[in-house]
Amino acid sequence: MLFWLWQFVRPYRMRLAVAIIALVSTAMLTLSLGQGVKLMIDEGFSSQSTAGLASALGIVGFIIVAMSIGAYFRFYMVSWLGERVVADVRKKLYRHLVSLPPSFFEDNLAGEIQSRVTTDTTLLQTVIGSSFSFALRNALTFIGGLTLMFISNIKLTLIVLLVVPFIVFPLIYFGRKVKKLSRDSQDKIATVGAWAGESLQHIKVVQAFTREDMVNEQFGQAAEGAFDVALKRIRQRAILIALVMMMVMGSVAGMLFVGGSDVIAGELSAGDLAAFVFYAIMVAGSLAAVTEVYGEVQRAAGAAERIRELLATEADIKSPAIELSNRQSLSQSSDQTSSPALIEFNNMSYAYPSRPNRNALDKLNLAVNAGESIALVGPSGAGKSTLFDLLLRFRDPQNGDIRIAGKTLTEWDLQDLRSQFALVPQQPVLFSANVWDNLKYGRPDATEADVMAAAKAAHADEFIEQLPEGYQSFLGEQGVKLSGGQKQRLAIARAILRDPKILLLDEATSALDAQSEHYVQQALDTLMKGRTTFIIAHRLATVRHVDRIAVFDQGQLVDVGSHDELLASSELYRRLAELQFQGAKNDKLT
Ligand SMILES: Nc1ncnc2c1ncn2[C@@H]1O[C@H](COP(=O)(O)OP(=O)(O)OP(=O)(O)O)[C@@H](O)[C@H]1O
Ligand SMILES: [Mg+2]
Repeated sequence: MLFWLWQFVRPYRMRLAVAIIALVSTAMLTLSLGQGVKLMIDEGFSSQSTAGLASALGIVGFIIVAMSIGAYFRFYMVSWLGERVVADVRKKLYRHLVSLPPSFFEDNLAGEIQSRVTTDTTLLQTVIGSSFSFALRNALTFIGGLTLMFISNIKLTLIVLLVVPFIVFPLIYFGRKVKKLSRDSQDKIATVGAWAGESLQHIKVVQAFTREDMVNEQFGQAAEGAFDVALKRIRQRAILIALVMMMVMGSVAGMLFVGGSDVIAGELSAGDLAAFVFYAIMVAGSLAAVTEVYGEVQRAAGAAERIRELLATEADIKSPAIELSNRQSLSQSSDQTSSPALIEFNNMSYAYPSRPNRNALDKLNLAVNAGESIALVGPSGAGKSTLFDLLLRFRDPQNGDIRIAGKTLTEWDLQDLRSQFALVPQQPVLFSANVWDNLKYGRPDATEADVMAAAKAAHADEFIEQLPEGYQSFLGEQGVKLSGGQKQRLAIARAILRDPKILLLDEATSALDAQSEHYVQQALDTLMKGRTTFIIAHRLATVRHVDRIAVFDQGQLVDVGSHDELLASSELYRRLAELQFQGAKNDKLT
């Protein structure tokens, strides 16, 4: 773990050096206090001299001041390092997470991942920012104290040392156990967090289905599970602490007996014994301190392991290594390509990894020209949204390929590729920010006028102006303070503002009332003009005037053509159309 941590500490070597210097000098000063004690007893008490006592006290006072100054630097630098390193680890972790493909987040609970970013890094911070320095200081005290003990009295030192093996071996043994248990307990806590997060986020569904008792029960079990694991860990540590304390104090008592007898026999001065006891207590205390911190370090090692694991997950979708000068934007490259189609699917198949035997899209061949608008229709689960995922390269097809401007998606730099698109997803996504920031998400450098124009085009301006603080209104987490249709209009406005080369609309107007849909549809029609557009729609009326309609069924592209052509040629399309337009007629009759 230390080796791994070093990469984060290295940039701050100078501060680390200052911290270590402060740490070593305070440890040495602490040890020299023992000589002060000896002076006070031998020059002051034993020789009954007030002047001797005063001068000894002067020396002790000097040591104390120097020690305090050292302690200030030590504490400041070490805590600074802890906070700094953890901020860096967090940043690195987050940067890594954001680069992972969406499939990673389908397989891992969001709350679990969050806990690694927050709780685990906090544990790491305790270690770097306090435990580690504490341990180092105590280790130094231990070594220094032991050396001084040897110098001043070998016999007594050996008595004290008898117990060391009895302390070190259990320390290692229990330490391993604690590390494993601590990892388990962190895992459990993360699960508890994830559980709570999910049910609180969907509180309406929980309450509407009156499942409060059930979630309480589930959460309770998770919390108890975490407690049980923690208890095991605590037990191990408690045994360790008790064992060490008994050994240490026992040996000090034994040493006191032998040393006391020597003083009575006149073989040792009282000051020497006092200094020795001072060292022995210090050495014992530091050993006990190290054992206590050792458990904590083991916990942090568990946390570091979880963080490392996460950092080690490779993104299977990555930009190819291209030099910046060779990167192209769409307009540059489309001039050079010989093929007229902007986007081509060549015999492309994709199956979700969780369902390898069933192709969500099967042997798709389709070419879409620049500026063309194409609608994707078909029953639910046909693979329409999956096609958008593939276009944005959230997933890579297992067979065949997709080309944009003649280059396969894997040849594009990811950012270059995705910046050509604007997506209005099936479920509109809003962030916990105000209207303004949510709209500008698509184009951060947009001017006020641009944003207003986009909102107007999406017919969002009227309701935005009615919000309590207009464009500054805070929308709540995931836009909870808006209606479904309002959210959808903001999502459309965001896409309009982005002004992309390729527009992807997934059921963009499904939540709108007939009148708003009519208006928004007009805005979209303007937007689509001269722009390559993919529209997914269930309501066929909304896609009648696109250039071509592609009909999908169970992952297969079954037919392509205009509305009228398809009515003549495609049985599936005719059936879908009949059901819908008949329904509309019946509605009118009633
Ligand atoms: N993340 C996923 N993991 C595994 N299977 C998935 C995943 N997402 C979708 N599927 C499956 O892939 C198939 C196609 O799904 P897709 O979302 O593309 O359908 P769709 O045509 O957009 O349907 P709808 O009109 O209902 O939105 C479905 O059978 C679905 O169950
Ligand atoms: Mg869909």
